[in-house]
Amino acid sequence: MSSGLFDKFKSGKPGAGANKGASKFGKDSAAKPTLGTRPTQATSSFGSRTTPTSTFGTRASSLGAKREMNEATFVAYRDFIYKQSGIYFTENKKYLLEGRVSKRLEAHNMTDYNEYLQFISSPLNMRKELQSLFEVITINETYFFRNEPQFHALQNVILPELIQKKQSSPIKKIRLWSAACSSGEEPYTMAMILKEHFVAKYPSIRFEVVANDISTAVLNKARAGVYNDYAVRNVPPDLKAKYFKKDGDKWIIAQELRNLVRFSHLNLYDGNALRTIGTVDVIFCCNVLIYFDQDSKKQVVQNLFDRLEKNGFLMIGYSESLHGITKAFKLVHFPKTLAYKKE
Ligand SMILES: C[S@@+](CC[C@H](N)C(=O)[O-])C[C@H]1O[C@@H](n2cnc3c(N)ncnc32)[C@H](O)[C@@H]1O
Repeated sequence: MSSGLFDKFKSGKPGAGANKGASKFGKDSAAKPTLGTRPTQATSSFGSRTTPTSTFGTRASSLGAKREMNEATFVAYRDFIYKQSGIYFTENKKYLLEGRVSKRLEAHNMTDYNEYLQFISSPLNMRKELQSLFEVITINETYFFRNEPQFHALQNVILPELIQKKQSSPIKKIRLWSAACSSGEEPYTMAMILKEHFVAKYPSIRFEVVANDISTAVLNKARAGVYNDYAVRNVPPDLKAKYFKKDGDKWIIAQELRNLVRFSHLNLYDGNALRTIGTVDVIFCCNVLIYFDQDSKKQVVQNLFDRLEKNGFLMIGYSESLHGITKAFKLVHFPKTLAYKKE
């Protein structure tokens, strides 16, 4: 490795861990909207079903004051959001939903949760407002080289293996997909690895990173490519110097990395939209499956499987698991991490 990219990894940096055996709600799951079951189905293990009450309507006393949703309103929101995105708020995350939706109420000078629900449900407003609702209900936490052992496996095993296989193939293209890319740190990390170790070395292969998210706000941030110290804290200094320009307290991503990454909006829950991705060799679908209930997970993971080329790899988050979701993949172990291979 020329850049010392994974020196920290090699020295066994505390905190780096394997997917295997990790708790389902590990370090990344705190305060996140937990997803449960489909509205029409039985109770999930992490959220009880709610019984609609007869009082439909919840009024906040004044703007800015703490608003509370009654049960029926909560259920109406939960089902609406689930239908639109696959994101499922269990009852124990009601407070979280209240806080987030109240931001949209404030934006529209509304004081009643039901008024807003009616507003967003109207075909006239839905398209535009849904986007804003997604912005407030999604959690976008991410940073460069977030789960280092995964990037280590990508660099040292997965890409060399794929390249070797592509040498004899008529289509010399390698496509990596960051399936819920947030503000771009994950796909740009992939691009950094490609640029640093593979692009110049294998000129006959076309490398590409595709990156998607349901939130247009984070996609705009990703396209802007401007980051703070927190986001770049794991980037090795030599790569920071090479692939970022410092501007005051900001770090601006290099054009050569931008050229490798193509961002677009996509709802992972929308099977038709997923087909527009085409096929890819590697998928990073990290720290997003935790938002889905078991049935949505199954559906999304099947869609991901369909998008993968034969011999392709799927990576998921540190605290996520496909246990009970699918047996379609072969589990492949790497140092301190694992991947799911399509054979
Ligand atoms: C916690 S971030 C993970 C970012 C990055 N993958 C990582 O691991 O650092 C989760 C992202 O998933 C996105 N997301 C949530 N539901 C989604 C959906 N149905 N389709 C696409 N993206 C979704 C959110 O907008 C958010 O940016």
